Amino acid sequence: MSNGKRLNGRVAVITGAAQGIGFGIAERLASEGALTILADIKIGVATAAAQRLVEQGYKAEALAVDIGDDSSVAELAQAVDCNHGRCEILINNAAIGADTHIETMKMEEYHRIVSVNQDGAVRMAMAFVPLIKKAGEGRRIVNVASIQGLRGWPNQLAYATAKGAVVNFTRALACDLAPYNIMVNAIAPGFVDTPMSILPDGSHEYDSDWFRDIYVKYGRIPLRRFGSPADMAGPTFFLCSDDAQYVTGQILSVDGGASATF
Ligand SMILES: NC(=O)c1ccc[n+]([C@@H]2O[C@H](COP(=O)([O-])OP(=O)(O)OC[C@H]3O[C@@H](n4cnc5c(N)ncnc54)[C@H](O)[C@@H]3O)[C@@H](O)[C@H]2O)c1
Repeated sequence: MSNGKRLNGRVAVITGAAQGIGFGIAERLASEGALTILADIKIGVATAAAQRLVEQGYKAEALAVDIGDDSSVAELAQAVDCNHGRCEILINNAAIGADTHIETMKMEEYHRIVSVNQDGAVRMAMAFVPLIKKAGEGRRIVNVASIQGLRGWPNQLAYATAKGAVVNFTRALACDLAPYNIMVNAIAPGFVDTPMSILPDGSHEYDSDWFRDIYVKYGRIPLRRFGSPADMAGPTFFLCSDDAQYVTGQILSVDGGASATF
């Protein structure tokens, strides 16, 4: 293992890596020697993000993808195949957030969220499994689920339903891919400070008094702080590392202890 970098020689594709948790994961995997491909619908932001990694001396490039679209995902897989001929690590991170309530939600909105947050991970896995099978050591898929995929939540019907599906997709896919030595796991983040938590009026969801009272002051998050992308990147790196060679089908909560409280 040269330079002490544990992912040297591995190709990693991270969806939604232009910003937030995805960028945090990309930065960590790149720092461990992986050639990181930042795949995002916002190609301009992803290109600038990849450039920042290159300036740090890491191997990174950006490619456009809409994980809600079959042909766009197929084009991404084809581009990675042409450029690199394989993919060791797939991180299914991209998703969209939106409030939805059973009494007001339109089915169109439900399908839009499910198509990206749930079907997007399935689409990406279908397109990338052939490329992962062509890879060498360290074949990994990590899905980014959510605490909302493990617990009920008001006003999050479509998002929580889709994330619950990602949780069990992770387990089922792990069983299908175990014969190829492809480990499939998920992280379930709690509350992480990213652009996703900025509300339509520009305010920050986690800055509201009630949010801080419940989660920080009264300890619904036992560690009494919101998470950062770097907090998510460490456990994701572990799941991608050789130390996780006997870990598959697992959902790792990374939530400051929130899911341990009730
Ligand atoms: N922020 C949190 O508190 C939190 C908590 C639990 C889980 N998560 C999950 O973590 C992941 C990352 O969230 P984040 O907070 O960094 O969000 P974010 O909104 O900051 O970043 C999401 C990224 O995904 C990209 N994206 C959106 N739709 C896409 C599509 N159709 N195709 C390709 N890329 C697309 C966006 O352009 C963006 O770069 C998501 O799966 C989210 O559900 C976040």
